[in-house]
Amino acid sequence: MCNEQPIGFIDSGVGGLTVVKEALKQLPNENILYLGDTARCPYGPRPAQQVIQFTWEMTQFLQKKNIKMLVIACNTATAVALEKIKTTLDIPVVGVILPGSRAAIKATKTKQIGVIGTEGTIKSASYKRVIVQKMPNAKITSLACPKFVPIVESNQFQTSVAKKIVAESLRPFTKQKVDTLILGCTHYPLLRPIIQNVMGTEVKLIDSGAETVGEVSMLLDYFQLANDRPTKDREVAFYTTGSTTMFDRIASEWLDEGSVNSKHIVLGEKNL
Ligand code: DGL
Repeated sequence: MCNEQPIGFIDSGVGGLTVVKEALKQLPNENILYLGDTARCPYGPRPAQQVIQFTWEMTQFLQKKNIKMLVIACNTATAVALEKIKTTLDIPVVGVILPGSRAAIKATKTKQIGVIGTEGTIKSASYKRVIVQKMPNAKITSLACPKFVPIVESNQFQTSVAKKIVAESLRPFTKQKVDTLILGCTHYPLLRPIIQNVMGTEVKLIDSGAETVGEVSMLLDYFQLANDRPTKDREVAFYTTGSTTMFDRIASEWLDEGSVNSKHIVLGEKNL
């Protein structure tokens, strides 16, 4: 198989880069297009209808670039928009919630699973629904952490402020013991060392985005869409609706693949 069309990844900002980082490693022949809607980030506190609209706009932008598969590398958008987009597009569409749930079910020994995410993701109860369907006696403790995304987007995720906010936000887990914690927002893996430190080394952290790439790889083969021809100069392109300076700084550091030069684009009639 040698389908050279790109795979599209979308997120509200830089969070989906945690998924792209894994894709760059696991899918070395694939061309990749990434779009972060930084100008309208965070999606977490927004009404579901608005998140659906924004997700559509991102999808349409990448569709025009002839993508062969769409990865909604955002839990908040997956929770409210995946099913609608899946039924409308004629290419495979992958979200991050099912892969994250499967990984947690596999990892837990006590069946006490924690989920952290944005307000929108936690309100949707998507993780809880999926996990309990597959493991009825699982006990799920869900917690919204609205302060985490702004720390990441402002490139403060390695600071003492980040440490303080993470410790305060995760305090409910000192009472509610879990053996597995789902990072149910693709921004959170950038805070992973701090989250692990607060939760303790015995708690297994699940990176929902990274888990998703395994499924993307499998689906590329299943739908005969993979590019199995070794590629020297594959295309990896980044688009943002926000500041390219901040995006490039975070992406270059996080992806560790040389310097990133994103392009600025505008979505919707105006950026709200
Ligand atoms: N990275 C996103 C997620 O996985 C969205 C964060 C936000 O915009 O609030 O949920």
